[in-house]
Amino acid sequence: MAELGHDVVGLDVDAAKVAMLAAGQAPFHEAGLPELLNKHVAAGRLRFTTDAAQIRQAQIFFIGVGTPQLPGRLGADMSYVDDAVATVLANSNATAEQPALIAGKSTVPVGTAQRIAETCNASGKHLLVAWNPEFLREGHAVHDTLHPDRLVYGLPEDEAQGRQAKALLDECYASVLAEGTPLVVANYPTAELVKVAANSFLATKISFINAMAELCDATDGDVTRLAEAIGYDERIGSKFLQAGIGFGGGCLPKDIRAFMARAGELGVDEALTFLREVDAINLRRRDHAVSLTESALGGSLVGRKIAVLGITFKPDTDDLRDSPALDIASRLRERGAELAVIDPAAGAELRRRRPELAVPDTVTDALQDADAVLLLTPWREYLSLDPVALRPLVRQPIIIDGRNVLDPHQWSDAGWTYYGMGRGVSVW
Ligand code: UGA
Repeated sequence: MAELGHDVVGLDVDAAKVAMLAAGQAPFHEAGLPELLNKHVAAGRLRFTTDAAQIRQAQIFFIGVGTPQLPGRLGADMSYVDDAVATVLANSNATAEQPALIAGKSTVPVGTAQRIAETCNASGKHLLVAWNPEFLREGHAVHDTLHPDRLVYGLPEDEAQGRQAKALLDECYASVLAEGTPLVVANYPTAELVKVAANSFLATKISFINAMAELCDATDGDVTRLAEAIGYDERIGSKFLQAGIGFGGGCLPKDIRAFMARAGELGVDEALTFLREVDAINLRRRDHAVSLTESALGGSLVGRKIAVLGITFKPDTDDLRDSPALDIASRLRERGAELAVIDPAAGAELRRRRPELAVPDTVTDALQDADAVLLLTPWREYLSLDPVALRPLVRQPIIIDGRNVLDPHQWSDAGWTYYGMGRGVSVW
């Protein structure tokens, strides 16, 4: 928002994060973000604080707090959103002449914006509500924010309020709109549903190709060729058709679950029964990776040394939330294996959080005397590893390619036994 030309105050309850941000340091790994932080903190256009009084003058309050899965339940924890709204209500000094806008970015159950709008109306404060979902991908957050592929505004049904809310958002996104970014204007429920529908579709696409990987495993087919071939059909498209150990992270898994929970509350759970299958296929990928490793090692993992390359839920982030790689590594260890895990971004965090996992400094150290090597997160640096040079390091040349990103022939030719995910052995 500062880069788009606005004066921005970032409010959070986490004093440590606020201190880092105020010093121009990003509290997580995101390419391009430290540069932008530094630039705008130095220019005074971007400030961070734990003091809610600092947000009084804001014209737009973007709410971007988390909505994590409730422990032991499918639904989302809405307490952070509710607290944020309460903070805005307690602090905004908007007036009837100059109303302010709450613009929700958090991924929420459908019905939330209406509930917040009713709270705002009942409070007598001059706060409008819009829902303005966020579609950025971790690892591409800066680009996706500055050049989104679409903007979505969920506006109030009251026409006058809707016009005011739209005018504030249009002003805020003026430079983005000037680039020709498509804008979809809708009511609250539609805007809320757009977000979960998009993530559900992406999750479904991944689980579809992973289901095909199961079929390929049963028939000696190659899911990478299959994905390539169906992807040439523009109606299908080749993106998000990468079979492997499945999806993770702080969004897709919990969003499909919260969506199912909300559909249940609305009495339309049957409409989303398929997402249960999407979730189940996805979780089966992790079981499959564990049992494949076990059988590749002759049935037992006890005392076996396993090197894991990549532990974040996807490359270009240090995010470990619901990471399939970390789940698989943990399960291998529970079954008696000795793990050496390496990751370009999450090594330090992993050492702190999971001291039972060895985290060496280099790939060479990780592979030393390994009985099997598992590539679980396709960081760029792991795609070009040289199987010939690595062969002498390991005790057993077994490579399990959890993301189907290596060349099976190159690794086999160098003396490795290669296992992909739904990648039957073929000369083709
Ligand atoms: C996802 C959506 O892609 C964003 O559009 C959305 O804004 C964001 O959630 C959110 O709700 O905030 P993100 O969680 O950053 O973004 O991650 P993705 O790039 O969607 O990847 C999710 C998982 O799917 C990763 O574990 C990735 O490895 C896996 N994946 C992705 C596959 O297994 N196969 C694929 O073909 C693609």
